Amino acid sequence: MKILILGARGLLGSNLSLLYSKNHDVLAAGKNKPNFTFTKNYVVDISKEEDLEIIEREKPDFVINCVALTNVDFCEENFELSREINALAAEKIAKACKKENSYFVHISTDAVFDGNKGNYKETDSVNPINVYGETKLEAEKLIETVGGRYSIVRTNIYGWNHLEKFSLAEWMLNKLRKMEKIHAFSDIHSSPINVINLGRAIMELFEKKYQGVIHISGAETSSKFNFAKKIAKIFNLNDKLIIESSSDTMNFKAKRGKNLGLNVDFAKNLLETKLFGIEEGLKELKEEEESDFLKKLKNRRFKNYQ
Ligand SMILES: NC(=O)c1ccc[n+]([C@@H]2O[C@H](COP(=O)([O-])OP(=O)(O)OC[C@H]3O[C@@H](n4cnc5c(N)ncnc54)[C@H](OP(=O)(O)O)[C@@H]3O)[C@@H](O)[C@H]2O)c1
Repeated sequence: MKILILGARGLLGSNLSLLYSKNHDVLAAGKNKPNFTFTKNYVVDISKEEDLEIIEREKPDFVINCVALTNVDFCEENFELSREINALAAEKIAKACKKENSYFVHISTDAVFDGNKGNYKETDSVNPINVYGETKLEAEKLIETVGGRYSIVRTNIYGWNHLEKFSLAEWMLNKLRKMEKIHAFSDIHSSPINVINLGRAIMELFEKKYQGVIHISGAETSSKFNFAKKIAKIFNLNDKLIIESSSDTMNFKAKRGKNLGLNVDFAKNLLETKLFGIEEGLKELKEEEESDFLKKLKNRRFKNYQ
């Protein structure tokens, strides 16, 4: 099977590229060209229609859009650009996929909700409270209007980055390993999923040709503070370095939802892939670090892993 991954250098895109390359022909595309050894690599800026001609040329069976402007504070101050990449470009991809009859998975977010309720089902009302959430929600609506064979996956993720940048879990680990204190919010809750666990579930959506919106996140909701505690536990680090704090003390440009946990009952019934709770997901993260997987993911960028 031929799979096109857009945003292939990002946290999710890089992990999907490596995971799927074991059994499939993966075309890894980034705004900057990926340098993976395990895929065919392309430059694709999703805001450029001419770059998206790769879909007409290659006719992939499966296209996954992992591109987004994910910095919520940056989005808050850059509405037009955020809308162009997060929403309007997603519509262009949906149209190209419909034309070629490629199955399209678009990655969305828990931030389409306001975070007042938590445990959100697919049928709950959306109400984004920042530009990032607004533009991600607009993408969902545009894709639904285009139609074709698609699914929209709302999620919240953690994992190992290919690039030299830290996801929240990596940042926490790095600090704790250096014996530095970290402040973690006990008033912000979400249900993050290890990107590899998510990758297995996304492959099943393709196999089942699922159509529509679906919540695929971790099976458990936790505060950032408890997430940090569990990282310390699983990676045998000193949890006394983790200081409980409140997001109310921060002066963020964009508002944050406080309880964005997703209800995954629907996905649990549909999929064979088990959606892990926090500790199981973190154990898998540890195994990834100890295996060849992380060495391959980091290829060439970190001397230690060459
Ligand atoms: N991270 C989270 O906690 C989280 C939570 C909920 C939902 N999500 C969703 O999950 C998906 C993946 O997020 P992520 O954290 O993996 O993102 P990420 O690490 O920030 O990566 C995003 C990628 O988008 C690419 N990109 C930006 N503008 C582009 C353009 N015009 N054309 C092509 N590529 C472009 C960048 O490519 P280059 O590297 O080539 O510049 C970057 O590698 C997104 O849809 C996000 O909204 C993420």
